[in-house]
Amino acid sequence: MSSAKEQYEAFKAKGLKLNMQRGQPSDADFDLSNGLLSVLTERDYMAGTLDLRNYPGGVTGIPEARALFGALLGVRSEQVIVWNNASLELQGHVLTWALLRGVRGSSGPWITGRPKIIVTLPGYDRHFLLLQTLGFEVLGVNMQEDGPDVDAIEKLAQDPSVKGMLFVPTYSNPGGESISPEKAARLARLQSAAPDFTIFADDAYRVHHLHEHDRDEAVNFVALCEEAGNPDRAFVFASTSKITFAGAGLGFLASSTANVQALGSWLNALSIGPNKLEQYRHVKFLEAYPGGLKGLMREHARLIAPKFAAVDEVLQRELGSLGLASWKLPKGGYFISLNTALPVADRVVKLAEAAGVSLTPAGATYPGGRDPNNANIRLAPTRPPLNEVREAMTVVATCIRVASEEHQAR
Ligand SMILES: Cc1ncc(COP(=O)(O)O)c(C=O)c1O
Repeated sequence: MSSAKEQYEAFKAKGLKLNMQRGQPSDADFDLSNGLLSVLTERDYMAGTLDLRNYPGGVTGIPEARALFGALLGVRSEQVIVWNNASLELQGHVLTWALLRGVRGSSGPWITGRPKIIVTLPGYDRHFLLLQTLGFEVLGVNMQEDGPDVDAIEKLAQDPSVKGMLFVPTYSNPGGESISPEKAARLARLQSAAPDFTIFADDAYRVHHLHEHDRDEAVNFVALCEEAGNPDRAFVFASTSKITFAGAGLGFLASSTANVQALGSWLNALSIGPNKLEQYRHVKFLEAYPGGLKGLMREHARLIAPKFAAVDEVLQRELGSLGLASWKLPKGGYFISLNTALPVADRVVKLAEAAGVSLTPAGATYPGGRDPNNANIRLAPTRPPLNEVREAMTVVATCIRVASEEHQAR
């Protein structure tokens, strides 16, 4: 038996139960925001003259929340809609609205034209799920170190049925790449065959820096599109899911004022309004947090950065000189993307599972769950405690050695 196989069997005998699959905050991350649960008192049902308990207030969110999250996204309050938990729901609302009604500049509903949307690869499985469930054809372009392959996008956008792109501009899922200001400006002024080509930017990790100084600055698509003479081109989404509570936060978006008004009429048909008390609670909590939202993100970084460093450290130690895998440590976000040199990602995930380490299913970072190279594995180090991250990554590295040996022996 090879030394890798022996090591693997020894791990298997330990009966481990480790999870590197879930892109979730840890309990320690959640604990930072437990103050949310008590920040409102019995008297905190008024925000200025607005009674948060009653219906009136509209669909765009309470002014205090629009101002706070407008500042996070670098736009004015009137360019913001603050909704309920989960930005994915908002992404779904905007895409559904575009399908059924078209966006500003559309000659009609997108659904009549077999619409296509560009995504980046590897990418986020829930974007693929959302787009494909709604009936969009998904076209992939490569994610590069400085953001999406804009040359490829410029070519694809010559097809009038290509209606836009959905991607993560900052600390992308899974690779952690951020778009450069140059590429973002090219997308803002892109000459598309469709007059209503739309940038759906899921900026979920916009403020999720791992380090105080070494960081990627998020671009401002709303401002860039305005400057490029395409003011209605961009919708930027984000949420507090990885800031406060993943299952009980706030989703929000920024776009042109005209888009916000138009989308408001759609949301107004769906709902009398979002949960205003939850919005007020977030505003009160985040404003009172030492250092505000930035202070809270620094505390998250303090918890999360060592876990990212541990992944890199273990992979370097176990695989550094072997040429069996490549990975890059991002400066922020929630994931590390690893590529095996040989087409063994599915085997690595199976071996790891059998040894008690859950990984994101191989292929999940490609539409339809099919990675053409069978190489990409998304690692999610945020949820497990640091010692478990180290142990799980030692197992993963061993699985990569075993799977590569098996493949070479064929
Ligand atoms: C890129 C990206 N967008 C959105 C989400 C989910 O966000 P929300 O909870 O706001 O729907 C995630 C969660 O992992 C994500 O990675």
